[in-house]
Amino acid sequence: MTTRRLPRWDELRPLLRFQHVPLDPTERRLAGVNTIADLRRIAYRRTPRAVFDYTDGAAEQEVSLRRMRDAFRRVEFRPGVLRDVSAADPGTTVLGQRWRLPFALAPTGFTRMMHHEGERAVVRAAQTADVTYALSTMGTTSIEDVAAEGPHARKWFQLYVWRDRDAGKELIQRALEADYEALVLTVDTPIAGARMRDVRNGLTIPPSLTPTTVLDAALHPAWWFNLLTTEPLTFASMTHWGGTVADLVNRMFDPSVTFADVDWIRDAWPRSLVVKGIQNVADARAAVEHGADAVVVSNHGGRQLDRTPVPLTLLPEISDAVGDRADVLLDGGITSGADVVAGLALGAKACLVGRAYLYGLMAGGERGVDRAIEILAEEVTRTLRLLGVRSVDELDRWHVSLG
Ligand SMILES: Cc1cc2nc3c(=O)[nH]c(=O)nc-3n(C[C@H](O)[C@H](O)[C@H](O)COP(=O)(O)O)c2cc1C
Repeated sequence: MTTRRLPRWDELRPLLRFQHVPLDPTERRLAGVNTIADLRRIAYRRTPRAVFDYTDGAAEQEVSLRRMRDAFRRVEFRPGVLRDVSAADPGTTVLGQRWRLPFALAPTGFTRMMHHEGERAVVRAAQTADVTYALSTMGTTSIEDVAAEGPHARKWFQLYVWRDRDAGKELIQRALEADYEALVLTVDTPIAGARMRDVRNGLTIPPSLTPTTVLDAALHPAWWFNLLTTEPLTFASMTHWGGTVADLVNRMFDPSVTFADVDWIRDAWPRSLVVKGIQNVADARAAVEHGADAVVVSNHGGRQLDRTPVPLTLLPEISDAVGDRADVLLDGGITSGADVVAGLALGAKACLVGRAYLYGLMAGGERGVDRAIEILAEEVTRTLRLLGVRSVDELDRWHVSLG
């Protein structure tokens, strides 16, 4: 039988832990965050439904998005043991530049809607962590303002081909003058994908004041206060717009774009050219033949054509086809550093993350993006060490099976 006694104070004292509660509300909110899923949960609470859905959602029935996430879940890692992993270097080389971490922040439009500091917060976080940030054509802060906010950050500029070619050329020139290192040409958006959540929520840019949104303001007062008391929400590279994202894309972007456009863009941009949105081997080859220094195997986070191939599954064949002539990058569905490592093992030089850092931005502005980067970085390094590799170069295809 168990004999019981009262615990003594000197036994209890070492067990007592008084949790440090930060005074700053953002720090307090982020204190319990350990994963990207934690950031997503806070983002859901902090932002109006239409804003969260614009970020979180995808096209049509969102089959692509679910398949991408499932593909990462199906990944089976094959670790090697007894390899001395006292330290592991997660760095990689992309476009001839050494990166401290093997992922970059993908271009995302309308970032000031997610948090009033938008692109400024993101570029500051990118600078702090020394990761690359790609500013979108659909950005809500100008090329020059982003450059001024993060003068030492590694910056790329993402371009869509516009009907007005001269306006496109002007953006290229501005990105050149503002010292952006690479131009990312997104090629999977001849027309807008059908984001059904946006249709259902009646999302417009800027968000309109309707009975529903006014009601929402009562639920998310901080977000609405910040929206209404900061610089009006417009696209920095485009004329003022008061309609839906889909209408805007269809009005501005050119559906007749072809590989011939890659040629003039190649001529207009002397630095590295990245073609984003490649989804088969033939297009990867053609992009490289037309001058791409890197391709991103991507389906736009499942936000364009639904039921496209899963980028992770396509990656090995595209890497085999063009990997000796161009850097192959990957994005879509990444929610952890382990996902990044799976992509690297299957042939990517680096991965791009979109929603993962946007959840951070919505959850806590710049500090939230910092936290998202920290989480991914820690997970990458931990996964490498547990896999028995000390650097990204030691990763091999046999480390990953797609199950
Ligand atoms: C809210 C949002 C806006 C986006 N806007 C753009 C854009 O303006 N240009 C672009 O090339 N890709 C855009 N993308 C796609 C991302 O660059 C990237 O391909 C995608 O987010 C990767 O998937 P992930 O979000 O699952 O990481 C956007 C993605 C999201 C989530």
